[in-house]
Amino acid sequence: MKTLILGGDGYLGWPTCMYFANLGHEVYTVDNFCKRQIELEVGVTPLNKVFTLQERIDFWNKNSNNKIELFTGDILNHKFLYEILEKIKPENIIHYAEQPSAPYSMADRQKAYFTQSNNVLGNLNLLFAMKKYCKDAHLIKLGTMGEYGTPNIDIEEGWLDIEHKGRKEKILYPKKPNSFYHLSKVHDTNNIEFCCRNWGLKSTDLNQGVVYGFHTKETMLDEKLQTSFHYDEVFGTVINRFITQAVLGKNLTVYGKGGQQRGYLNIMDTLNCVRMASENPPDAGEFNIFNQFTETFTVSDIAFKIQKALDKINLKIKIDNLKNPRNELEEHYYNPSNDKFIKLGLKPHLFNDELIISFYKFVKNYENVINKNIIDPKISWSK
Ligand SMILES: NC(=O)c1ccc[n+]([C@@H]2O[C@H](COP(=O)([O-])OP(=O)(O)OC[C@H]3O[C@@H](n4cnc5c(N)ncnc54)[C@H](O)[C@@H]3O)[C@@H](O)[C@H]2O)c1
Repeated sequence: MKTLILGGDGYLGWPTCMYFANLGHEVYTVDNFCKRQIELEVGVTPLNKVFTLQERIDFWNKNSNNKIELFTGDILNHKFLYEILEKIKPENIIHYAEQPSAPYSMADRQKAYFTQSNNVLGNLNLLFAMKKYCKDAHLIKLGTMGEYGTPNIDIEEGWLDIEHKGRKEKILYPKKPNSFYHLSKVHDTNNIEFCCRNWGLKSTDLNQGVVYGFHTKETMLDEKLQTSFHYDEVFGTVINRFITQAVLGKNLTVYGKGGQQRGYLNIMDTLNCVRMASENPPDAGEFNIFNQFTETFTVSDIAFKIQKALDKINLKIKIDNLKNPRNELEEHYYNPSNDKFIKLGLKPHLFNDELIISFYKFVKNYENVINKNIIDPKISWSK
């Protein structure tokens, strides 16, 4: 099967390229390296050396029979995207190529503008390109659980059956996200649903939780094949930041009361979920939505779990509550469903003591290169 992966230089994109190549797919990938440019702009670097995408692909192609082909360019350039889709005619398109940081999108007008134009218009170009050159392809689009926000009712998988004044309808689940980034994903969802309904495209939207983890079967083959590990306030997610603080012997900094509950999953489960989505395409005109997470935790739960796990190796970790830089409920109801992937047979990797200790040991190897100044929050949501 021909699979096009947009955003192949990214944290998830690169492991996905190798994973699908090993599944026997003909893999093509696209990136414009804007993530690396944003890293330079905001002054952060990943913990580890991330080889360039060209170096990683060269190394992979020399050592594997399942080759990966790179197209360098911006999906905001519709002619570039049209040429690729016309040439390849992919059957599967996995779309990761968006600006993924909520704090970045909340920093100022220009960053919110970039996030929404890059994400929404890139996705729109893709929908038009698919209509023109590969109407039968399956679009697997990465959305986020953050699209839903934290409603006071159960979170279904994308759709809601409602009854209003005695009449029934199935509607897209009403979304109430907490950042311009998450809003960009809601706009994408609406555009994709519209194109499935109007043009007969087929798509699966994966409302993904927060991904943690660094190792996949393929990234472990060689140092040159690693993906990125971010621990900074812009790109580092809470588990990465806490583990890094633990390595530095610093207190774990919980934002506010710490009752903010979210869905989480291991990077290996991201790969499994994307594979399962690609093996179960919807019919033409259908828009499938899956909630892609395996466990839910509050921020305090994560801090306590790390504290308890590291106690097993005689590390005494303390926890601080910081003033919350984000506008979000710090105590709330949260009950999202993830039944669809569980029914398809997903066997989750769990965030347990063993995993936390191995994660700690991995970051400990880089203790001397950690930049201590990029962990604490400086971006305020309500500025
Ligand atoms: N990492 C997570 O925890 C997480 C959670 C939920 C959803 N997601 C979503 O999954 C996707 C991948 O996330 P990630 O963490 O790997 O992000 P990432 O920033 O590491 O990867 C995205 C890649 O896309 C590229 N890109 C962005 N805009 C582009 C454009 N206009 N043209 C070409 N390339 C472009 C970037 O250069 C980058 O290499 C994103 O859409 C993100 O919103 C990620």
